[in-house]
Amino acid sequence: MMRCATLVLVSALAPSGAACGEDPPKFSEPMVLGGQDVSAEVLNAGHRSFEMRCASCHGSDGSGQGPASTGLAERPRDFRQADFKYKSTSDGSLPTDGDLDITIRNGQLANGMPAFSGLTDDDRHAIIQYLKTFSPRWAEAKPEAS
Ligand code: HEC
Repeated sequence: MMRCATLVLVSALAPSGAACGEDPPKFSEPMVLGGQDVSAEVLNAGHRSFEMRCASCHGSDGSGQGPASTGLAERPRDFRQADFKYKSTSDGSLPTDGDLDITIRNGQLANGMPAFSGLTDDDRHAIIQYLKTFSPRWAEAKPEAS
């Protein structure tokens, strides 16, 4: 990675893994999620952004038990169960990308989730795909229209 080049000398002195101050990318293989092919690059971008913007409430593990979750009016649901409330699809179905996108852009202000209206389309897309890796349901099923 080019932007790491200046750190080569430093990383030779530091414990391994400290180069660039980041962990190695989490994904090396593409995945099929909700019936869509998603590249490792998109998943890694989504992972970084989720850690930065969402994990404080939703937890790095997607459990909804991030450090900032305790003071919220409504506790975030567990993404590992893939049990979503805000969706246009049939009962028990997974939400569409569009459903997730609306929640992210508008937030759930009354319940403590801020609106992320300033993110780029690519950033929101990557976060949405990464969010699907918390539950194996996304590898097995697709959103079903109601
Ligand atoms: C300040 C805490 C907070 C942050 C930061 C936050 N959320 Fe939330 N989120 C919540 C809460 C609380 C809920 C539950 C709201 C409800 O039930 O009405 C929620 C709900 C959701 C839902 C809806 C789940 C459903 O049941 O349909 C999605 C999707 C979601 N968040 C994604 C994200 C993403 C992606 C980010 C980062 C870009 C993020 N959230 C950042 C607190 C947060």
